[in-house]
Amino acid sequence: MKDTPIDYQIVKTKIEASGLSCIGKATIRRIVKLVNEIEKASGKRYIRMEMGVPGLPPSEIGTQAEIDALKRGVAAKYPMIEGIEELKQEVSRFIKLFINTDVSPQCCIPSVGSMQGSIASFLVACRREVKKDTTLFIDPGFPVHKQQHKVLGFKFVSFDVYDFRGEKLQQKLETYLSKGNISTMIYSNPNNPSWICFTDDELRIIGDMANKYDVVVIEDLAYVAMDFRTDMSLPGQPPYQPSVSQYTNNFILLISSSKVFSYAGQRVGCIVISDELFNRKFPNLKRFFTSDQFGHATIYGSLYSLSSGTSHSAQYALAAMLKAANDGTYKFLEPVREYGERAKVMKRLFTDNGFKIVYDKDIDRPIADGFFFTFSYPGFTGEQLLEELLYYGISAIALTITGSTRLEGLRACVSRIRKDDYNELEHRLKKFHEHHPVA
Ligand SMILES: Cc1ncc(COP(=O)(O)O)c(C=O)c1O
Repeated sequence: MKDTPIDYQIVKTKIEASGLSCIGKATIRRIVKLVNEIEKASGKRYIRMEMGVPGLPPSEIGTQAEIDALKRGVAAKYPMIEGIEELKQEVSRFIKLFINTDVSPQCCIPSVGSMQGSIASFLVACRREVKKDTTLFIDPGFPVHKQQHKVLGFKFVSFDVYDFRGEKLQQKLETYLSKGNISTMIYSNPNNPSWICFTDDELRIIGDMANKYDVVVIEDLAYVAMDFRTDMSLPGQPPYQPSVSQYTNNFILLISSSKVFSYAGQRVGCIVISDELFNRKFPNLKRFFTSDQFGHATIYGSLYSLSSGTSHSAQYALAAMLKAANDGTYKFLEPVREYGERAKVMKRLFTDNGFKIVYDKDIDRPIADGFFFTFSYPGFTGEQLLEELLYYGISAIALTITGSTRLEGLRACVSRIRKDDYNELEHRLKKFHEHHPVA
């Protein structure tokens, strides 16, 4: 028993009482619950890096627009499933101004967070053809997307892109897609959990493959334009957010308000389907929906069944935030740059104390500082490290639950850490290092 920053016995008892046979395999929400309990029992605050919640106040433009809409009485009215016109227009503008891709407003459809956008998309994209019954996850990835597949009973395969960056990606994708059973590919960019950002060359490879094998690419842009190595903040001016939509029309882009606008609580996002895919017909869709047209099936089949549209007032909020970003009157990336600053300091505190960054490069460039980073410690698996760090008042999640093959890694989310936590983090990391000397 060591002199750990959090009382050893309390942590041990709580871990045992949690009933979790392996802490490292627990879902994010289970870890949150366990840490809440230890904090309560020990009276000590953790350095909480397990959950990706926004650590900034919500955009006032959003809350004000939502209040105004509620005062106008929109709460009494069902919103149209396809979304309010203002929002559809602003999403279409946003995609043009920040990604340089043309999509008509009719193909931009609000969703209850990006999470509903993904499940609604899977319900249609994964059922286009009988023989294409499997999704390919370009991992590491957001674990809930796999959970959605499990809930739906849909098949999936995955690979960790760590060893297949750059040109190697082509061959790797070919081995999966040439089998003919892949309906959809999905990844997030910037990536949760590793914060890798695909290069334009890699996105071109993904796009070319999607064209060759007629596979739909679902590009999750929850962290759009948050690769702070490049300034993508000016509407209508390059550089733009790199996107597969430059290289294929077989795309769905998922937009979230949660992180870029710190608007997670209102659960509002958007599904953006290319015009070509929106209008395409797939006879197999008729087995599940009243229409065989992709866009129609998504709106009046999938989204209608899930929630009959997206909260009326939240749509006005998102429309207002996007309009201000599009007009250049609201520099939406300014507040979130803070995450990059935090990551820079925190990564240094970790590496100064014997830790290593796991996903450390985008091919030849050092990885960006952003919402997440990944780390390991010599001699530990990720699962062991996660548990051991709990005694030091630090919580994270194991990369294994994200489809990563880097068994040694953990994911840290910087959003809840403040400047006045740095000293305590440093103290705890030093203690850990002292107790676990590296040979
Ligand atoms: C990659 C990724 N996709 C989607 C989401 C969820 O977005 P939303 O809150 O809009 O449902 C998150 C949130 O952590 C995420 O990291």
